[in-house]
Amino acid sequence: LSTAQAAERQSDPVVVAHRGASGYAPENTLAAADKAHQLGIDWVENDVQRTSDGKLVVIHDTDLTRTTDVEEVFPDRAPWSVSDFTLAEIRKLDAGSWFSADYAGEKVPTLREFLRKMTRNQQKLLLEIKAPELYPGIEAQILGELRGSGWLDRRHVRDRLILQSFGAESVRTVHTLRPDVKTGFLGTPDVSELPAYAEFTDQINPSYRTVTADYVDAVHQLKGAHGKPLELFTWTVNDGAVAADLAGLGVDGIITNTPDVVRDAVSGS
Ligand code: G3P
Ligand code: CA
Repeated sequence: LSTAQAAERQSDPVVVAHRGASGYAPENTLAAADKAHQLGIDWVENDVQRTSDGKLVVIHDTDLTRTTDVEEVFPDRAPWSVSDFTLAEIRKLDAGSWFSADYAGEKVPTLREFLRKMTRNQQKLLLEIKAPELYPGIEAQILGELRGSGWLDRRHVRDRLILQSFGAESVRTVHTLRPDVKTGFLGTPDVSELPAYAEFTDQINPSYRTVTADYVDAVHQLKGAHGKPLELFTWTVNDGAVAADLAGLGVDGIITNTPDVVRDAVSGS
């Protein structure tokens, strides 16, 4: 290991609240971001998609059925795709009751609202461009929203914002449009393919089930799009013992529904 790599291994991995602290509050809501904040967690992951009238909303699934009451409110609109509903229609939905009656009335947030919440809480955002193939041009639109919300100033770009996607072309597009913004690719490319990814991304973010010591080392051998060692944030790890093992392998970040559990398991690892 180089000195820099050894130093990196000695620091605890960053803990990221997956869809907010989604083990404790309904995923991808402002309440889930607040819950992470209450737990002292800076980094929040979320998922962004687009409505039929072109508004950016924070939601994971490409249909509204699992995390809202859309089937009751709009029974004739199967298959209830996010992209078939206007923002005004989506705002009529309850995005909290499915999780718990305590969260009845929680709404699907717009990206703008979510950013405002992050700013107020002084939190940091790992923003996933979800299903980019469904939303042509969404990368430029997201960057426009980030710029308008003050999230492309130097401070944010330097250390408060990462854009990631399972879509390699989407990540590449972000890097082309705004080379200063940190990016991540979701997946586990073959080791032989990593140098090509490192041209446009700063992170390789695989499912924890695919992570090995050799893979972490292969990622760390390379420099990412900004000339720093390529990083690895892994998901979705809710078990403390598993998190501690991954920390021992030297992962740079752990994305989790239970960030308090993971933080306790990895601190001082
Ligand atoms: O951030 C990693 C993780 O969110 C990727 O999977 O399905 O939860 O969006 P998914
Ligand atoms: Ca996600």
